[in-house]
Amino acid sequence: MADARILVVYYSRTGTTRKVAKSLAAALHCDSEEVVETSSRSGMFGYLRSVIDARRQVPSRIAAGASDPSLYDLIVIGTPVWAWSLSSPVRAYLLANKPRLPAVAFFCTLGGAGSDQAFGQMQEVVGKRPVGCLSITARDVASEKYAPQLVTFVETLQRTLAEDRSTATSVA
Ligand SMILES: Cc1cc2nc3c(=O)[nH]c(=O)nc-3n(C[C@H](O)[C@H](O)[C@H](O)COP(=O)(O)O)c2cc1C
Repeated sequence: MADARILVVYYSRTGTTRKVAKSLAAALHCDSEEVVETSSRSGMFGYLRSVIDARRQVPSRIAAGASDPSLYDLIVIGTPVWAWSLSSPVRAYLLANKPRLPAVAFFCTLGGAGSDQAFGQMQEVVGKRPVGCLSITARDVASEKYAPQLVTFVETLQRTLAEDRSTATSVA
């Protein structure tokens, strides 16, 4: 596990997904990178535009990321749920980096409904099954009640990486 290269990539409009992403990166002892849009989504207009973009499954314009995902063993990708969907900035990241993605895991934050749909869309875009999925409500993030879920998710990722490495070693 100590040698596994993991990157947490996330988008966050209002800070909730960022908080979970930072906790995950700390627990996994790995780098994190925020997906940054080239235009603002603040305010009521930004909210409405987000709903429309998500429902139409439109990728947004994002700045080029600093990290090359192909240099990692696992990319852990986080999104807020928008209109029962994947957020447009994360859709754009997945589309832009699809050929360079190694194994993937997904996480999302949400008000309460739509995580399965969002994860299904993420899997459809990248064309591969995630090694794990984690959804956490914004309420649990605000009240700092997400540690048990986070620990279970991290253990799943660590176990999967360890199994993959032992399979690779026995084949070699
Ligand atoms: C445009 C928009 C649409 C949303 N749609 C949903 C939804 O369909 N289901 C849900 O449970 N929460 C929904 N939410 C709530 C967010 O998923 C939730 O607040 C999330 O934690 C925000 O993450 P962030 O602070 O990282 O941007 C929506 C929020 C926004 C801004």
